[in-house]
Amino acid sequence: MVTLVVNGKQVNGKETRKLMDFLREDLRITSVKNGCNQGACGACNVIVDGKVVRACMQPLTNFANKSILTVEGFSEQKEISPAMLVTLLHWWFLEKGWHIPLGNTLS
Ligand code: FES
Repeated sequence: MVTLVVNGKQVNGKETRKLMDFLREDLRITSVKNGCNQGACGACNVIVDGKVVRACMQPLTNFANKSILTVEGFSEQKEISPAMLVTLLHWWFLEKGWHIPLGNTLS
């Protein structure tokens, strides 16, 4: 089992899961989208310890003891960081159907 914090809550997941599958299927966090499943589109972007990360590319073991933030967790935040702002804008553009691979420039 891997222990991590998602939107301020400690959770456990199987080592074999990808972060995106764990968030979407196990935790039912639907803001994390499966766009390309290849690390290209950014629809699965989450913030991990303050940095934008593609959730579709890495196993859950890479996120042991890390803090994951999704859109669902933004309302709990007192301040918005630059990474959060860029991620929100990216999600907004994706919702409008505009693909802008901002995550590549932030990693
Ligand atoms: S689903 Fe496209 S980058 Fe992850």
